[in-house]
Amino acid sequence: MLYSEKVMDHFQNPRNVGKMEDADGIGEVGNAVCGDIMKMFIKVKDSIITDVKFNTFGCGSAIATSSMATEMIKGKSIEEALALSNKAVVEALDGLPAHKIHCSVLAEEAVKAAVKDYYDRNNIPYDKSKFPDCSQCEHCHG
Ligand code: FES
Repeated sequence: MLYSEKVMDHFQNPRNVGKMEDADGIGEVGNAVCGDIMKMFIKVKDSIITDVKFNTFGCGSAIATSSMATEMIKGKSIEEALALSNKAVVEALDGLPAHKIHCSVLAEEAVKAAVKDYYDRNNIPYDKSKFPDCSQCEHCHG
């Protein structure tokens, strides 16, 4: 089978879909490969991500990886969320077909962008090298 049961489950019943009116950080990124976009909202209290929501125009694999990524960072510290790689998300989903790996990058980048927005809003200094250099990229919408 092309997709694992976990991918199908998260695609058909995605967790944490939606918007957040009072988000502490919002990340919006575009996929350089397919042009799909993803928006991630986080609520932060005492450096812990207490709630997370996502909204995407991405494909099924983007939905599944974002759904899994939100589950993996909810209740975790910001540092742990920043350390989440698309590879870890793909592994948690029991894999993705090779030509769909790029979709999982959308989830990782959206989480990072939401954390960066949180840092910027709160004037928290951070290591810029941990984030993609947006000035070099034409695909980011925010
Ligand atoms: Fe665009 Fe999967 S094809 S995110």
